[in-house]
Amino acid sequence: MASFKRDVRILLVGDEKVGKTSLILSLVSEEFAEEVPPRAEEITIPADVTPEHVPTCIVDYSGQEQDESCLQDEIRKCSVVCIVYSVVDEDSIQRLTTYWLPYLRFTLGEEHRTPVILVGNKVDMTEVHTLESILPIMNDFAEVETCVECSAKTLKNISEVFYYAQKAVLHPTAPVYNPDEKE
Ligand code: GTP
Ligand code: MG
Repeated sequence: MASFKRDVRILLVGDEKVGKTSLILSLVSEEFAEEVPPRAEEITIPADVTPEHVPTCIVDYSGQEQDESCLQDEIRKCSVVCIVYSVVDEDSIQRLTTYWLPYLRFTLGEEHRTPVILVGNKVDMTEVHTLESILPIMNDFAEVETCVECSAKTLKNISEVFYYAQKAVLHPTAPVYNPDEKE
């Protein structure tokens, strides 16, 4: 069964202004840029500089530049989705369950196996942690592999975000961990 994964394609989605483009550019340049374009160029990180030694492609999404059919194509093409929210934007947290996770199921099928990472950006702006409200989502949506809080501005946990995404594709836990069986 073990199919050999040749590469990892990471798609970042999420509401406007949560910091998707900043996250990607912070990872690539190891510094925060105040001014970023709406959408980052697609980048491929060569195998030898990624933690799991697999070529990894990172794809940005911008509602300004892409329509729905574009977004759906990208969702179908990728191997893992990072849904980015802002820890200081309550609406962007709500929309994880009211919009983004259902939208992925709508696009990929209810029982889809594309792993999802929930990424809470802008932790530099608050002392409050959101993981308490995020963790229950992992029970309701088995496709959510893990969640992580980070900051594109201070670079906190930036490399972890992409490492977790890679790991979710190469070493998925979803088939092993079934919340319904855990009692
Ligand atoms: P769209 O492309 O419009 O969907 O937005 P986006 O999700 O790509 O967000 P973008 O990277 O353009 O960032 C939006 C704003 O948030 C910009 O002003 C960034 O400078 C700011 N920002 C992004 N990440 C952080 C962060 O970690 N901390 C802080 N304080 N600001 C951030
Ligand atoms: Mg953007």
